[in-house]
Amino acid sequence: MENIKSYVQQHKDRFINELIELLKIPSVSADTAYSQDVIDTSEAVKVSLEKAGCDFVEICDTPGYPIVYGEKIIDKSLPTVLVYGHYDVQPPDPLELWTSPPFEPVIKKTEIHPEGAIFARGSCDDKGQMFMHVKALEYMVQSNTLPCNVKFMIEGEEEVGSKSLSWFVERNQEKLKNDVILISDTGMISNQQPSITTGLRGLSYVEVEVTGPNRDLHSGLYGGAVANPINILAKMIASLHDDDNHITIPGFYDKVQELSLEERAEMAKAPFNLDDYKKALDLKDVYGEKGYVTNERNSIRPTLDVNGIWGGYTGEGAKTVIASKAFAKISMRLVPNQDWEEITELFTKHFISIAPAGVTVKVKPHHGGQGYVTPIDSIGYKAANMAYTETFGIPAIPVRSGGSIPIVALFEKELKSKTILMGFGLDSDAIHSPNEHFGIFNYLKGIETIPLFYKYFVELSK
Ligand code: BES
Ligand code: MN
Ligand code: MN
Repeated sequence: MENIKSYVQQHKDRFINELIELLKIPSVSADTAYSQDVIDTSEAVKVSLEKAGCDFVEICDTPGYPIVYGEKIIDKSLPTVLVYGHYDVQPPDPLELWTSPPFEPVIKKTEIHPEGAIFARGSCDDKGQMFMHVKALEYMVQSNTLPCNVKFMIEGEEEVGSKSLSWFVERNQEKLKNDVILISDTGMISNQQPSITTGLRGLSYVEVEVTGPNRDLHSGLYGGAVANPINILAKMIASLHDDDNHITIPGFYDKVQELSLEERAEMAKAPFNLDDYKKALDLKDVYGEKGYVTNERNSIRPTLDVNGIWGGYTGEGAKTVIASKAFAKISMRLVPNQDWEEITELFTKHFISIAPAGVTVKVKPHHGGQGYVTPIDSIGYKAANMAYTETFGIPAIPVRSGGSIPIVALFEKELKSKTILMGFGLDSDAIHSPNEHFGIFNYLKGIETIPLFYKYFVELSK
């Protein structure tokens, strides 16, 4: 496919500008202040799919944000690729740490992206990666090389748990029928070393509330005589890990799938430099579960992390107060065979049981999802690897990621098909952080590689 290279070269300015327009709409699904923007983004995605050459595109209403569905069916007897992506983005805060406003995309050069990267919230996660598929379709339609049927399902609630997508998938099995699901919402090792994500972690996300006295108290008059909810919460959270950084919740590890030494040795072959890793994060040392190395800790091992903690006085100056309440948001990343609902229950039971009598504790489950692992001997994996090999000049390495896309496990359950995770982002692209960006190289390489996946998938399916 020499043509795709020249097509990308010829149209790259337009490809970049179209993505920039999409990135200007602040489709933050977590914050209702942006709800009109989220809806506007679904419209923009619909228009882009129509322009790219889908025969049929619709905005599907759900109990939450709409799902954009599009398709081009060329021959019912040919395979069907279902592309999934999300048009919603994470909240941009803390705003003051952005070097340019999150919804005013600009191209800047970085050490890792010498040819420039687009800085904007959602540039990598996932508008930029989703849009590669729209442009790849445009190419295949324009050049008459689309070798099979394609369906698009682009949702607007991924960053808040994909509730409406589950609802939609359960009700539309026939419409969504496919032979393989293709997603670009993960990363790869580096621009020199492509990788294919073969695993995702599951997730259980909860919010806890610790209540002490019925009102905020003077910390002199009452201090020392009543339980301070913030002190207690800190102590309870600290007790959730032991000195070896194992999680102390009874039963937490019972179903964890342990990898064999051979599998771990295989993992260790992926290029990784601990000094570079530390340097990129300005860390003197890494930290984590005893007995595992960094790349295992962040992929094949379950974790528990506080994502936010608040309570009491945090304004300017000092206020002497014992707050009535303290709160925290806690996430647990899970690995294959751990069931997120079961883990949520284990957490809840344990967390309530460790509270001293001077406080009451509430645990509110937010959302969650199962982990995922995919074999590397499937046609889909092989096709993806052939595509990367052709555009990068070297084969991709299979890598289990630490991130979560809970809907992938649901796809397998409801639609009975495997998902291929062809991610083109880099860990250093700062997704969910200030200054999120997506390399121009990565964006264009994605557009180049995707049509080859279609080509090889159809060839191997024969
Ligand atoms: N695209 C990410 C997940 C991801 C990123 C997986 C990089 C692997 C590598 C996705 O948008 C995301 O952020 N998922 C959430 C979970 C969701 C339920 C909010 C996550 O992993 O925190
Ligand atoms: Mn994403
Ligand atoms: Mn995300």
